[in-house]
Amino acid sequence: MLAIETEGLTKDYLVGFWRPRPYRALHDLTLTVERGDVFGFLGPNGAGKSTAIKLLMQLIYPTSGTARILGRPVGDVEMRRRIGFLPENPSFYDYLTAEELLTYFASLFDVPAAERAARVSRVLDEVGIGAERRMRLRSYSKGMVQRVGIAQAIINDPDVVFFDEPMSGLDPLGRRDVRQLLLRLRDRGCTVFFSSHILSDAEALCSRVAIIAQGRLAGGGRLSDIVGVDVLGWELIADGVTPAGLDVLRARARQVTPLHDGRYSVDLPPDGPEATVHALSAAGGRVVSLNPVRHTLEDYFVQHVAQAATREAAL
Ligand SMILES: Nc1ncnc2c1ncn2[C@@H]1O[C@H](COP(=O)(O)OP(=O)(O)O)[C@@H](O)[C@H]1O
Ligand SMILES: [Mg+2]
Repeated sequence: MLAIETEGLTKDYLVGFWRPRPYRALHDLTLTVERGDVFGFLGPNGAGKSTAIKLLMQLIYPTSGTARILGRPVGDVEMRRRIGFLPENPSFYDYLTAEELLTYFASLFDVPAAERAARVSRVLDEVGIGAERRMRLRSYSKGMVQRVGIAQAIINDPDVVFFDEPMSGLDPLGRRDVRQLLLRLRDRGCTVFFSSHILSDAEALCSRVAIIAQGRLAGGGRLSDIVGVDVLGWELIADGVTPAGLDVLRARARQVTPLHDGRYSVDLPPDGPEATVHALSAAGGRVVSLNPVRHTLEDYFVQHVAQAATREAAL
C-alpha cells in the first residue's frame, strides 16, 4: 500500500475583488510516495507546495483531481487518526503552556487520560523542549514554537506525517535536531513527507524528492539517481607550487585559479587525477586536498526550475 497518491490534483484560487478570476496554483499534480520514505517536496517560494499539502489535509478542496493517504480517500476519518501535520508558520493560543496544549491534542486523539502525561512528556523530550514546557507559549521563540508544532504533529504516533517547511525559522542547531528527529520517525516506520525550499536539508534526509515549480511537477526521483555517482571532475587545492609545478597543472587542468601565497585551486577532468598529483609532487608542490565534483541536488533543482519557467513563458 502506498503512503500517499495524488492523481491530477489541481487547485484554482479566485483572485481579485471586483472581478474574481481563477488563478491556477497547482496544475495536475500526480505523484506517489511509498511507505517508509522520507520524501522531499521541493520548490521555490510560491511554487504550490503549501497548496498541495493543504489539499491533502483537506484544509482546502481541489478544483479537480483526487488524493489518497494510506490507501484511503483524504476525507476518511479513521485514516486521519493515523497522520500528523505541521502547518507552515504554526501559531497556537499563547496563554497555554506547551504541556497544556499537547495534553489537549492528546485528548483530541483519545489518548487515555492515564497515559496522557507520559505521552506528552515523551513527545516534548523528543523535540527538545525542556523545563520551558511549563511556560506559556507567548514567551517562546520562533524556533521553540516550531518544536511545539512538531510535537503536536506526532502526539498520536502517526504512520504518515506532513511537515510544511519544518526547518523554517530554526537556527543551524535547531535544524540539525529536526533532521535527526525526522530520521528517528523514519526508523520507527513513519513515512515523512516534508516541503522545503532548502536543498541541503533534502539532500541530507530524503530517499526521494519531487520538484515543483509554478504549480507543476518539474522533476524528481530517487535522490541517489539525481545526485548521481558520476564524477564530473576533481577540485585540487595545491600549495607551494613552483613554476615547474604550475606548468604541470596548466598542461592538465581545465582551469587553474590562484588563491593566495602560492596556493592554487585546480579544476581537473574526471580521469586520472593521481597522475597529476604525482607530477605535481615531483615538480615541487603539495596537495592540500583533492575532492570529486558531482552533480548536486542544487544543479538538478536549478536546471528543472529554469526549464519549467521557460515552458511557462512559451505557453
Ligand atoms: N488563498 C489563496 N488565494 C489566492 N492565491 C493563493 C492563495 N494561497 C496561495 N496562493 C498563491 O498560489 C501560489 C502557490 O502558493 P503556495 O502553495 O503557498 O506556494 P509555496 O508553499 O510553494 O510557497 C502562489 O502564487 C500564491 O500566491
Ligand atoms: Mg508554503
